[in-house]
Amino acid sequence: MSSLFDPIKIGDIQLANRVVMAPLTRNRAIDGLMPGPMTVEYYRQRATAGLIITEASQIIPMAQGYLNTPGIHTPEQVAAWRKVTNAVHAEGGRMVIQLWHVGRISHVSLLPGGAAPVSSTNRRPNAQTYTKDGFVDVSIPRALRDDELPDLIADYRHAARCAMDAGFDGVEVHAANAYLLDQFLRDSVNDRSGPYGGSIANRARLLIEVMQAVSDEIGAGRTAVRLSPMTTFNDTPLDSNPQALYEYIVEQLASLGLAYLHIIEGETCGARYPADVTAFDYATLHHIFPGAWMVNNGYERAEGMAAIATQKADLVAFGRAFISNPDLVRRLRENAPFNMLQTDKFYGGGAEGYIDYAELGSDQ
Ligand code: PHB
Repeated sequence: MSSLFDPIKIGDIQLANRVVMAPLTRNRAIDGLMPGPMTVEYYRQRATAGLIITEASQIIPMAQGYLNTPGIHTPEQVAAWRKVTNAVHAEGGRMVIQLWHVGRISHVSLLPGGAAPVSSTNRRPNAQTYTKDGFVDVSIPRALRDDELPDLIADYRHAARCAMDAGFDGVEVHAANAYLLDQFLRDSVNDRSGPYGGSIANRARLLIEVMQAVSDEIGAGRTAVRLSPMTTFNDTPLDSNPQALYEYIVEQLASLGLAYLHIIEGETCGARYPADVTAFDYATLHHIFPGAWMVNNGYERAEGMAAIATQKADLVAFGRAFISNPDLVRRLRENAPFNMLQTDKFYGGGAEGYIDYAELGSDQ
C-alpha cells in the first residue's frame, strides 16, 4: 500500500513524495513581472514538497488578468525564474510552472495598449479582478477569430520552451477555473460557430491542440494539465453536460502520455462535493487517464493519506496549508499542528505572510 510519503515517478519527473504544493497566486512579481529575491526564498522554503507547481504565470502580456502576476515569456523572466528553480533544485525539490491565459477575466488597465481581454466569446461575466485601483469589474472581452488561434497555440509552445530554459522540470497547462481554455470548453461561455465552437469535440479542440503543441515542444513526460469540471469560479456557470465534456477531453488526452492530470474536485476554494448539484463521477475520468492522477481541494491530512492508500489518487495537492507551513511535508508526516494562516496577506505585499512562516522547532 502506497503512502503520501513514498516516492513516485510521474512521466519523466522523479518525486520524493506525493505531497504537491498547489499553484497559488500571490501577486508579488517585481518590475518586469517576474519573481524577485523574496519569491526565490518563498519557493526554496517549500522545496521539500514532492512537487511545487508555481503560481499561475502568463504566457504573453495579453494573458494577464491580475496585478503583479509573473510571466514566462521574456528573457528577463526566464533568468529570474532560473534563480527560483536553482534554489529549489539545490534543496532536492522538483518544480513545474503553471502556464496561464486568463482570457476574459481581465481588465483593460492590465493589458498592452489598454486592449480588450480576449475570449471564446464577447460576453462579459460578472466577475471581478484586482488592479492597481483595487477590485474592479472585468472588461468586456473580444472574441478571438479562428485565424488568431494558431498564434495563441504558438504562444503556449513558446512559454513551455521558456520554462525549460528557466530550468523547470515541466509545465502544467491551466485549463481550469473558467480562464481562457475553460472559456472554450464550456457551452455556458463558448458561443462560437466553426471548428472551435458547438460540439464537444469542437470546444475541446483548442485545449487538445495546445496540449499537443506543448508536448511536442518539451516532451509529454514533462507536460501536465489542470481541469475543474464542476466549479462556477469566476462567475461562470457549469457546462450543460460536464460529464460528457470532461470524459471526452480525458479520452483525447489519454493518448498523449502526459505526466499528470490535476483535477480540482467541486467548487474551487469551496466545497469538494457540493450537495446542491448533480454528482460528478471523477472516478471514470481517473480510469480513462493513464498518467498520474492529482487531486485537489481542501484535503486534510487523513483524507490525503486515505486518497493515496485507496488509490483514489497518486498525488495530493495542498494550497493554503503550504502558504502557512513551508515544512508541510514534515508536519503531515509527524501529524504536527499547522501555523495560523494570514488570509489578508495572500495577495500582494511583502515578506509578511509570505516568507516569514516558522518551521517546526524554530522560534520565529
Ligand atoms: C487568482 O488569482 O485568484 C486565481 C488564479 C488562478 C486560479 C484561481 C484563482 O486558478
